[in-house]
Amino acid sequence: AASSPSRPEAVHEIPARVPVVERPEERSSPPASVRAGTMEHPGGVTGLTPGVTAWTAESIASLPPGERRTMAALVDEAGVLSARAQALPTAITSTDRLTRDQIVYLCCDETTNPVRGPTNVLGVLKTGDKNLFIHRGGASTPIEMEPRCVLDFYVHETAQRRGIGALLFAFFLRDENKHPARLAYDRPSEKFLAFLAKHHGLVKYQNQTNNFVVFDAYFAVKPRPASAAKEAKKLFEGRGVGLAAAARAKAAA
Ligand code: ACO
Repeated sequence: AASSPSRPEAVHEIPARVPVVERPEERSSPPASVRAGTMEHPGGVTGLTPGVTAWTAESIASLPPGERRTMAALVDEAGVLSARAQALPTAITSTDRLTRDQIVYLCCDETTNPVRGPTNVLGVLKTGDKNLFIHRGGASTPIEMEPRCVLDFYVHETAQRRGIGALLFAFFLRDENKHPARLAYDRPSEKFLAFLAKHHGLVKYQNQTNNFVVFDAYFAVKPRPASAAKEAKKLFEGRGVGLAAAARAKAAA
């Protein structure tokens, strides 16, 4: 229940630092780039600021080599931890396999310093396009569609149920001008389904053989018009954006 006394306060802006308890066996190991079981790195990355920022393969590739390595270590570790949390055999998210249509959103805590480090990532969300065949209302003939999809979503175990997932998700919806019903969700976990029911009232869907979830509401909500020019204008109006969004805005200008 939301009123549980042991539950930490929900966050609405830049998340406060979450202490991670170090296990004794980790203390003796040589200093790794990302501490085992965490998404913390001693280095900083230009543009990877406290709060949520958006990244693409292109914006990551344009970082100076050292920062690119830091970014790759953080994103790859986030992918591994997310896969572990979902009991998946392989990571869905890694910098090497990011395609041009995909965006990775990272949520960093308030101690993150893009100039001097450290960088402490609390959560990650990855979106992308997929070509899907969906049986609408249990119809035997599927319809082909290419929805924007939520492909991966993870908040570190030490930071769950504090509103960080909601912060990431809201940033993505604003950034890509999407309605939560007009999306497909790749194999959503029980926690994610509970999240969608709680925050967006999304509950009803038909099971699909491809394991994507398209809510019944998808077909009741009109898609939002989103031209590149409109997106660029919004970006220049000073919303909190990361390098990826800035790069996209520049390309569209
Ligand atoms: N059990 C049930 N529901 C949960 C749980 C849980 N352990 N954790 C979060 N939720 C849902 C609930 O609706 C919760 O509301 P409540 O606390 O009032 O019950 C709500 O999410 C909380 O919202 P936030 O605090 O904004 O969400 P959070 O920061 O915890 O992020 C997320 C949600 C990403 C699903 C997180 O719980 C997580 O990383 N889980 C493990 C990995 C996972 O399952 N990821 C989704 C995979 S599917 C995919 O990526 C397409």
